[in-house]
Amino acid sequence: MRKPIVVGNWKLNGSHADNESLVTGVLSEMADMAAIDVAVCPPFVFIPQVADLAKSTSLGVGGQNCSEHDSGAFTGEVAPAMLFDVGARYVILGHSERRAMYGETNEVVSDKVKAALAAGLTPILCVGETLEERESDQTEAVVRQQLAAVIAGNGIASFERMVIAYEPVWAIGTGRTATPEQAQEVHAFIRGQLADHDASVAQSVRIQYGGSMKPANAAELLAQQDIDGGLIGGASLKAEDFLGICRAAADTVGNQ
Ligand code: PGA
Repeated sequence: MRKPIVVGNWKLNGSHADNESLVTGVLSEMADMAAIDVAVCPPFVFIPQVADLAKSTSLGVGGQNCSEHDSGAFTGEVAPAMLFDVGARYVILGHSERRAMYGETNEVVSDKVKAALAAGLTPILCVGETLEERESDQTEAVVRQQLAAVIAGNGIASFERMVIAYEPVWAIGTGRTATPEQAQEVHAFIRGQLADHDASVAQSVRIQYGGSMKPANAAELLAQQDIDGGLIGGASLKAEDFLGICRAAADTVGNQ
């Protein structure tokens, strides 16, 4: 069985004071979350603070992006080894906001995955289609290409050290969640794409759903066969909402 993984993507939010109360709130129930993996991804500058708060607990910490380069003249960039050095163990890569607003191509995302893996981080590789792509029946073609670039650049075995997040762009921050059936369909497709290369890697890789997941809809999404957790934006900024989703994920473990 795949261990569910719930990750908070804080995006461009946080302050020392807010982070402390949010993380303290999340930590208050971490002891009940032994059946799942839980992590939060703050903005770069807050990773040391959050890693310190989470020290000696099972709460993981990650970045929201990293450079594909290790060092050098890349003003404003953060290398994956630097993230590792300050306590991050995960890094979200290829989020649709980065693809759309910062021009990250499938090839750049693949290079970032390579650099992150080399630094010992677990990439959370985001894939997903826009509304326009869904409505023109391009969902599978888009997701296939997003995966193919990473498989071509890193090999299928690299997915043993990765998490995938399926995030339909039209569901992110919109309050419009994919139905469990819509999400399951794409999750099964993703697993099938990997299975074409290696069946056992496909079976073991964890695929999160992301896009307006909240306590009220988490259980029905997480009950789907190929949904192994959630990548949570808005609802990860309130401890009670984030924990509600974590509880729903932990509840699926006993039920399978
Ligand atoms: P959301 O964001 O939960 O606010 O829709 C998810 C994400 O972008 O990872």
